[in-house]
Amino acid sequence: MTDTTKLIQEHRSIRKFKDKSIDNEILQNLFLSAQSASSSHNVQAYSIILVKDQEKKDSISKLAGEQEWIKKCPVFLMFCADLYKMKTACEMNNAPYALDGIENLIVGIVDTALVAQTFLISAESYGLGGVFIGGIRNDTAKVSEILQLPEYVIPVAGMALGYPDENPWKKPRQPLDIVVHEDTYKIDKIVPGLTEYDRITSEYYFKRTDGDKDKGWTQLMTEYLADERRLHLKQFIIEKGIKII
Ligand SMILES: Cc1cc2nc3c(=O)[nH]c(=O)nc-3n(C[C@H](O)[C@H](O)[C@H](O)COP(=O)(O)O)c2cc1C
Repeated sequence: MTDTTKLIQEHRSIRKFKDKSIDNEILQNLFLSAQSASSSHNVQAYSIILVKDQEKKDSISKLAGEQEWIKKCPVFLMFCADLYKMKTACEMNNAPYALDGIENLIVGIVDTALVAQTFLISAESYGLGGVFIGGIRNDTAKVSEILQLPEYVIPVAGMALGYPDENPWKKPRQPLDIVVHEDTYKIDKIVPGLTEYDRITSEYYFKRTDGDKDKGWTQLMTEYLADERRLHLKQFIIEKGIKII
């Protein structure tokens, strides 16, 4: 196994950090790594906001559901889909632009996810750890106000980053059998695969919580999907200038 493969397969989200800052030189390297991710048509439809200000971190922690690790991490980052630079490129050339529709939004969100994950892998190679924060989408308008995000810029996910002060267990993933299909999608494998995954996850949570929790993945999904989530997002995106046509 290559060192990089080993590093990637050892990933765990980290939510407790040492009181140790991250060298600026390391951070700059992480940004350069992140930027090296592939990008659809090289549009590079993303921006990263490095949040240093404690008040801003506190406010973001609050709106993300009081996630303590946002307050306490030495570095917090906001990964944003950024169509503003695409729009500006057209304006600089006095050209009309067609930015509306789902396609450009997908381009921006995919680019942003690739950049964020590449950043985290690079960070982990320096002995850092982190956790993505989707909780920021609880109130994207407020995030936008705090970070002064212009039109056409959508916060996708945050990341709390620092030197790990915990060593959590690796979370089991779905059996490869229902993740990778050869030639055609093997629908008949899904229920047996998920049944097996229920057994694995239930055992994992039982051991990890000393018997307190033992729900399997499908049960956790029924809870996750019981209600519609973050319905304000569509309106937020429209208000940012992107018509979802
Ligand atoms: C886009 C995204 C958003 C996430 N949001 C949160 C979050 O708001 N809070 C949190 O504690 N973990 C969050 N996570 C972390 C996931 O819960 C975690 O990656 C998953 O449970 C798998 O665990 P692992 O990363 O330790 O393997 C998020 C992960 C992703 C990819």
